[in-house]
Amino acid sequence: MAVPLSVEMLLFSSLFLLPISVFSQNNGRVAVGSSLTASTGDSSSWLSPSGDFAFGFSPLGNNDLFLLSIWYAKIPETVVWHAYEDNNPVVAPGGSILNLTANSGLVLNNPQGGERWKSGTTSRIVANGVMNDNGNFVLQDKNSGSLWETFSNPTDTVLPGQTIERNGKLSSRRSETNYTKGRFQLRLQDDGNLVLNTVNLPSDFANNPYFATDTTAGTVEGSQGKQLVFNSSGYMFVLKENGGRVTLTGPQGVSTRDNYIRATLDFDGIFTLYSHPKNFTGKASWSTPWYMPDGDICQTLREDMGVGVCGYNSICKLKTDNRPTCECPKGFSFLDPNDIYRGCSSNFIQSCEEDELQGPRKDLYVEVLTNTDWPTSDYVQLKPSTADNCNESCFQDCLCAVAVFRSETCWKKKLPLSNGRVDVSLNSQTFIKVRKDNATLQSPPKPIPDDKEKSRKSVIRVESVLLGTSIFFNVVLSSALCLGFFYIFRKKPVRPSTNIVLDSNLRSFSYEELREATNGFKEELGKGAFGVVFKGVMQISPGVEVAVKKLNCFTGDTVDVEKEFKTEVNVIGQTHHKNLVRLFGYCDEGQQRLLVYEFLSNGTLASFLFSDIKPSWRQRIEIAYGVAKGLLYLHEECRTQIIHCDIKPQNILLDDYYTPLISDFGLAKLLLMNQSQTLTAIRGTRGYVAPEWFRSLPITTKVDVYSFGVLLLEIICCRRSVDNEGNCEEKAILTYWVYDCYIEGALDDVVDHEVEALCDRTILEKFVMVAIWCIQEDPSLRPTMMKVVQMLEGVAEVPVPPCPSPYTR
Ligand SMILES: *[C@@H]1O[C@H](CO)[C@@H](O)[C@H](O)[C@H]1NC(C)=O
Ligand SMILES: *[C@@H]1O[C@H](CO)[C@@H](O)[C@H](O)[C@H]1NC(C)=O
Ligand SMILES: *[C@@H]1O[C@H](CO)[C@@H](O)[C@H](O)[C@H]1NC(C)=O
Ligand SMILES: *[C@@H]1O[C@H](CO)[C@@H](O)[C@H](O)[C@H]1NC(C)=O
Ligand SMILES: *[C@@H]1O[C@H](CO)[C@@H](O)[C@H](O)[C@H]1NC(C)=O
Ligand SMILES: *[C@@H]1O[C@H](CO)[C@@H](O)[C@H](O)[C@H]1NC(C)=O
Repeated sequence: MAVPLSVEMLLFSSLFLLPISVFSQNNGRVAVGSSLTASTGDSSSWLSPSGDFAFGFSPLGNNDLFLLSIWYAKIPETVVWHAYEDNNPVVAPGGSILNLTANSGLVLNNPQGGERWKSGTTSRIVANGVMNDNGNFVLQDKNSGSLWETFSNPTDTVLPGQTIERNGKLSSRRSETNYTKGRFQLRLQDDGNLVLNTVNLPSDFANNPYFATDTTAGTVEGSQGKQLVFNSSGYMFVLKENGGRVTLTGPQGVSTRDNYIRATLDFDGIFTLYSHPKNFTGKASWSTPWYMPDGDICQTLREDMGVGVCGYNSICKLKTDNRPTCECPKGFSFLDPNDIYRGCSSNFIQSCEEDELQGPRKDLYVEVLTNTDWPTSDYVQLKPSTADNCNESCFQDCLCAVAVFRSETCWKKKLPLSNGRVDVSLNSQTFIKVRKDNATLQSPPKPIPDDKEKSRKSVIRVESVLLGTSIFFNVVLSSALCLGFFYIFRKKPVRPSTNIVLDSNLRSFSYEELREATNGFKEELGKGAFGVVFKGVMQISPGVEVAVKKLNCFTGDTVDVEKEFKTEVNVIGQTHHKNLVRLFGYCDEGQQRLLVYEFLSNGTLASFLFSDIKPSWRQRIEIAYGVAKGLLYLHEECRTQIIHCDIKPQNILLDDYYTPLISDFGLAKLLLMNQSQTLTAIRGTRGYVAPEWFRSLPITTKVDVYSFGVLLLEIICCRRSVDNEGNCEEKAILTYWVYDCYIEGALDDVVDHEVEALCDRTILEKFVMVAIWCIQEDPSLRPTMMKVVQMLEGVAEVPVPPCPSPYTR
């Protein structure tokens, strides 16, 4: 979290605030009727008398979002408490108002006035609030009795003076900067035992503890733990029924008078005592005099205690500071590169079916690690065995992902792997099956050679004319599209049909039915790379308007094509998102393949953006958010990852409320989650295609990110990505021109001096920067759609983007 509070700023603002503060605050007291506004301004927090703690809105990222929280007012970026609801932090957009009311305590209203959160109702009337110097914010009645306090509703931190009662707990956050509830818990159980354990999110199911004080009812009377006490001198202990204590830590030689002390259950599962000098000049940081568990947490978190610190398919290692870090084994990559603790996924999944047909997999090889183990996940144990046999046995077995060999025993393991760690005492060898990076290049499937040759040539042609305009181009591109498509459908060897059961939500229509519904395919709505779309009215529930797409690239009638079609339709049918066009059903009759979609009234985004009347800035912003979320869903949230390959305004439709819905997804190619790096013939549309199509680089979801970047610029500027008509040469290529404007600080030009957009300059600038990140030539520099959404919504910061095409310009 970035709380841009420097000491100077604070001193400055509190000096400035003094007259007002005296009015509303007296020794940390806050009168009923007082309010705070979520903003970076002065009226966003209440300070404790010493000025050490602040209660209120701390900025979250730099994009007008605020966390309702308590933090050290003199140290940047250390939140000790935050309001939460279910498992989520209470994040308020700028302009939200927090009122202290007599009847309901603290009430947070969003800028529109709706109630967002409240501290909880009490039967007694609140007389005032008080922000204490120990970091506790208390609502008091008129006799100064406590009605509600933050100390009784802790998040991940305890402060000196705070106690935790039975059934009380601390929950870690998801990551350093993500306050959503994480996997680790510190609990004083009902039986008096203080434990650390992981929970299986999103449920509360607690795994066996990885630390416990064992203060349960024993043979000694009253030996049960009653409270976890963190006393004001900095000692932490479990206080037993009989007054006995089990000390966890002392203040470790630091005085609570001269130092800030806190104990936080960190996002990596370590409960840590932190100290920071109160009187400091220049740079000072938190030191960690004590933590628990004090061993290697990678080894401590055993198999029965949850998946481990690093999530599935990863390897947990201890850094020099005794903190765990996570790695992915070769052939695996992080689920979320921004959060390495979430786990890894395999870059490919071996299918036993393919093996049967192809024989030994020449595209696989074996990586050897030493002393690395995933103790669970085995499905078979071979003994006696040798290292070679173990390796070979796994290699030949399509179910086997990893084999571990030690003391004459071979453990074959399948995915997902859990609790991965390195343990030198194991003396083991680990064999991991990995697919060669360039396997698709080395052993291409067996297509018809001619087609392949042709599409190669088209690719070259496409490259040479990319920036020019030519009708020839379009012809070549569309033929490349069809050939490419044909190629995809032909590339696998023909094998017996397996019956695929289609999602029951989808209806199978007869051709006759659809011919009737469309009145003999009369009203044409549009033409795309994959076929022609007709308007129709279904008789099912009277008057349901539909769009019927007649697919034209589906030549051939092999069993394989049929299976492929069903698979694709099934995948499309399983997508459900408000920014994706819904598929109602399909028709698969002989050579005829049709898809029946919901009909959307407001046409395409292209006609909306590029018409004579410029749509409003607000509307465009909302559309950009919607498209980003739809794409994020396709990439990361639906069951089978879908790379769209042809994001452009012609493929975005608008409903009655101008909500954007992505269409044509799942048609270009469905890439299974773990086979996302294959090279196939070029797809996409000129002006929107990512450079890797021309460079024999693997095609990943990043191609969509590129196209989204171009689309975002079009939404911002309301003009087409390539325009040779009205504009002079320097403006012809939108991406180049916008980057130049951005560098020169000429954003006014970008939006053609549109007043509404210029009034919203922060958003405008942010959107342009995000778009520039998306159109980076180097795919690895482009953010994921997850990151794009976070940046657009202001949850993540947008760094200054580099030049998108450092080589070609
Ligand atoms: C909250 O406080 C604001 C500003 O003082 C005031 O305008 C608003 O009416 C209050 N709302 C409630 C529900 O008390
Ligand atoms: C925090 O993590 C949760 C769970 O992984 C995720 O859904 C959420 O989007 C994240 N929030 C931010 C601000 O990154
Ligand atoms: C805190 O606990 C320690 C150790 O039990 C004790 O010596 C100290 O006096 C306590 N401090 C307070 C303020 O109770
Ligand atoms: C803070 O530290 C400085 C230098 O280390 C010292 O001169 C000053 O007296 C200290 N102030 C307090 C309040 O302890
Ligand atoms: C493991 O088996 C594969 C397949 O037979 C072989 O290519 C590789 O060299 C073996 N590796 C080791 C370390 O034995
Ligand atoms: C292909 O992979 C092999 C083995 O992984 C490697 O040696 C070779 O350099 C790669 N070739 C290219 C063109 O990437």
